[in-house]
Amino acid sequence: MSGSSFDPRQFRNALGRFASGVTVVTTRYEDRPHGMTANAFVSVSLDPPLVLVSLDNRSNMHRLLPATLRYGVSVLAEHQEKLSNHFAGRTVEGLHLRFVERQGVPLLEGAVAYFVVQVIDAHPAGDHTLYIGRVEHFESNDERPLLFYSGQYQHLRPDRAKPTAWPQDEFSLFSIGSLDPPIT
Ligand SMILES: Cc1cc2nc3c(=O)[nH]c(=O)nc-3n(C[C@H](O)[C@H](O)[C@H](O)COP(=O)(O)O)c2cc1C
Repeated sequence: MSGSSFDPRQFRNALGRFASGVTVVTTRYEDRPHGMTANAFVSVSLDPPLVLVSLDNRSNMHRLLPATLRYGVSVLAEHQEKLSNHFAGRTVEGLHLRFVERQGVPLLEGAVAYFVVQVIDAHPAGDHTLYIGRVEHFESNDERPLLFYSGQYQHLRPDRAKPTAWPQDEFSLFSIGSLDPPIT
């Protein structure tokens, strides 16, 4: 931001420089699964295990969560771009939705990680609300994730860049998985 001017488009562009994965947040309401694409998914605490999602106050999920108080997070695999588009409200031809269920919460089949969360707090924050939840169940596998960067989907390119090891500390939130051998 320069001087007193605040350009929303440039703000979005700057935010887009933060690379993320892509998740679909799901919940079961009146016995039907509902989902929305979200990349504002954050790891919050290890003990107790907490995560959050930041949801637009205009979204259907924001309307449903105060009633269901539980949500699932499916971290999409790199071949699940169509699911991301579908749950972001775009029309996708020939899409077959397949859900799996964990602890009564629907999740998307084929995702690279799942979290089932009990909402413990909701913080209004501008035009979004932060839904903080306690993780009741999680799973993950080694498939490659879908990435989102600069407003576009991206894939990991391990052939181009050699991953750099992060200094490990098993007590840090940012060393989750540090008990596994580092990828070289
Ligand atoms: C890659 C991607 C990430 C998104 N992340 C978020 C997010 O973190 N929070 C949010 O409120 N909307 C996010 N959206 C937009 C919602 O997915 C979109 O507005 C969706 O249609 C809302 O669901 P609804 O139409 O059922 O209300 C994202 C969209 C895309 C494509």
